[in-house]
Amino acid sequence: MTEKDFILKKTNTSKLNKGTFTWQSPSNIALVKYWGKSDPQIPKNPSISITLNNCHTSTTLEFSKKEIPTNDFNVQVIFEGNIKDAFKPKILNFFKRIEKYIPFITEYDFVIKTENSFPHSSGIASSASGMSALALCLMSIEKELNPEITPEYFKQKASFLARLGSGSAARSIEGELVVWGKHDQIKGSSDLYGIKFPYEIHSCFKNYQDTILLVDKGEKQVSSTLGHELMHNHPFAEQRFKQANENITKISKILQNGNLKAFVKLVESEALTLHAMMLTSDPYFILMKSNTLKIIEKICNFRKKTESNVCFTLDAGANIHVLFPEKEIEKVNTFILNELMGLCQNNQYICDKGGIGARQL
Ligand code: PMV
Repeated sequence: MTEKDFILKKTNTSKLNKGTFTWQSPSNIALVKYWGKSDPQIPKNPSISITLNNCHTSTTLEFSKKEIPTNDFNVQVIFEGNIKDAFKPKILNFFKRIEKYIPFITEYDFVIKTENSFPHSSGIASSASGMSALALCLMSIEKELNPEITPEYFKQKASFLARLGSGSAARSIEGELVVWGKHDQIKGSSDLYGIKFPYEIHSCFKNYQDTILLVDKGEKQVSSTLGHELMHNHPFAEQRFKQANENITKISKILQNGNLKAFVKLVESEALTLHAMMLTSDPYFILMKSNTLKIIEKICNFRKKTESNVCFTLDAGANIHVLFPEKEIEKVNTFILNELMGLCQNNQYICDKGGIGARQL
């Protein structure tokens, strides 16, 4: 599929005056990270993520035909029951980027009602789940106008549109593992949209557990936009992009052969590399907190002591994702309760696991 395949020709909207669609879309956590992009939201390297099950955004999109046609967008945003004008600029920007692909958006007034399953300001990014849920609602309108599109095209274009809102949102349509970004050894992979990992996954990775430790629930110190920009002129950028490509080759094999030891090593190294990029950029950012480091140390010690396959990964923040096989739930949960929970802000953490992707409500 090329970019042109996603352009919807001018369609007759006269039969669709108003309607409502609701989608629930998950968050995801990257194993091989995306950090660095070029215009328009094209990743500098491929990435792969686990789609989450419990952390998700539910979005209802109400639309009605504009009484007087205009060329601009009319959107109202309601977040968890309250009008949220602060979200509008991001959404209007998103609409501007996607207008070429779904030109009908200038013909309607929209009300977007959205809520997250995870606590507000928990430091968990909601852009992936939020943008993908909105993209899916918009695709439901496209399907109504153009019923012959296939379910496959629907998903691909939803991911394509979501990508234009937030890169990682391209990976939030399907589950349990999604690759976004062209890679020679991942069949069907594309810079334009995410695809389900196309090979059989070893049983040890089924229902993989992700417990998110809320170490610091504050606002993000570095916005994604600024973060990606830091990779332009970064002294280690080219090396990093090369390494990420190699790590995709490696993790693809690991996910098929079930080598958990190799998985732990690669995933932790990816998390630390993401932070190393921020530590060495200009300006530099230290996003880990002292409790982040304490938790990392405890996880490594626990692994040595018990032969567990538990490991950590990080987003662009201080929170920790504790990843482990379903088989180890009991022992890792006890470890988290006894040793890690006390290092979380207000003892808060969220138990999650791999999920199957978005669903229409
Ligand atoms: O989707 P964005 O632009 O918010 O970028 C997300 C980047 C990371 O979360 C840090 C890594 C990733 O691959 O998800």
